[in-house]
Amino acid sequence: MRFLDAEFVQGFIRMADDGWKQGWHERNGGNLSYRVKEEEVKSVKENFGQGEWKPIGTNVPDLAGEYFLVTGSGKYFRNVIQKPEDSVGMIELDDQGRNYRIVWGLTGGGKPTSELPSHLMNHEVKKLSTDGRYRVIYHAHTTNVIALTFVLPLKDEVFTRELWEMATECPVVFPAGIGVVPWMVPGGREIAVATSKLMEKYDVAIWAHHGMFAAGEDFDLTFGLMHTVEKSAEILVKMLSMQPAKMQTITPEDFRNLAKDFHVDLPERFLYEK
Ligand code: 13P
Ligand code: ZN
Repeated sequence: MRFLDAEFVQGFIRMADDGWKQGWHERNGGNLSYRVKEEEVKSVKENFGQGEWKPIGTNVPDLAGEYFLVTGSGKYFRNVIQKPEDSVGMIELDDQGRNYRIVWGLTGGGKPTSELPSHLMNHEVKKLSTDGRYRVIYHAHTTNVIALTFVLPLKDEVFTRELWEMATECPVVFPAGIGVVPWMVPGGREIAVATSKLMEKYDVAIWAHHGMFAAGEDFDLTFGLMHTVEKSAEILVKMLSMQPAKMQTITPEDFRNLAKDFHVDLPERFLYEK
């Protein structure tokens, strides 16, 4: 099969383009990665070349030997749909999870996203904690969530609770809550360690004054999660712009009732009295 005809490759391209259309990917902002299934690797293997081994910049032993489809560093989401072979690459990890090599794409000397350590450390945490179900990690520069990191305390409890209150579906879509990483230098191991620690508890991590990371089983669920959180943030920004105080809202008791009917577990630490 031609590499670009594979369903997982098409799904990846569509998701990148959807993110661009949402306005979350100015210039080269944001990045996306997918942990490719064994049978999917087999189906496109005939197209593989072999690049040189290069260090990942962190260790991910539990991902040793796995393949990932990733966006390239400095590449624009806007261009993914037009020139996927230049904007996107497939990488293989070595048998220790320390090095990667490009086996397809990133033509013209491209390399994987500078956030590869965060993507792979998040994948490792999610692979272990979901029995291998989670396969997608997505980083986007979501405007409204970023705006909120200038006016809300950078606490998991506050972001979770305020975003839950803005749309009834939120506690059902992200019942475990949202984590917040304070401002850190992006692109390295330190921010990857901080983010992957939050991914042990949550499917969403906010990077203050920068953007968001979301994790999920497939492209639909992961894009939908990013979209839901950002939509809720947009409502909060609108509300705060009209007047800082709420006239009425969803109460802790309302959330407890919702949790019963929708069969979700909502941790009590988010249902504090204000
Ligand atoms: P890359 O172009 O290296 O993926 O970086 C974009 C970005 O959003 C960094 O946080
Ligand atoms: Zn970024």
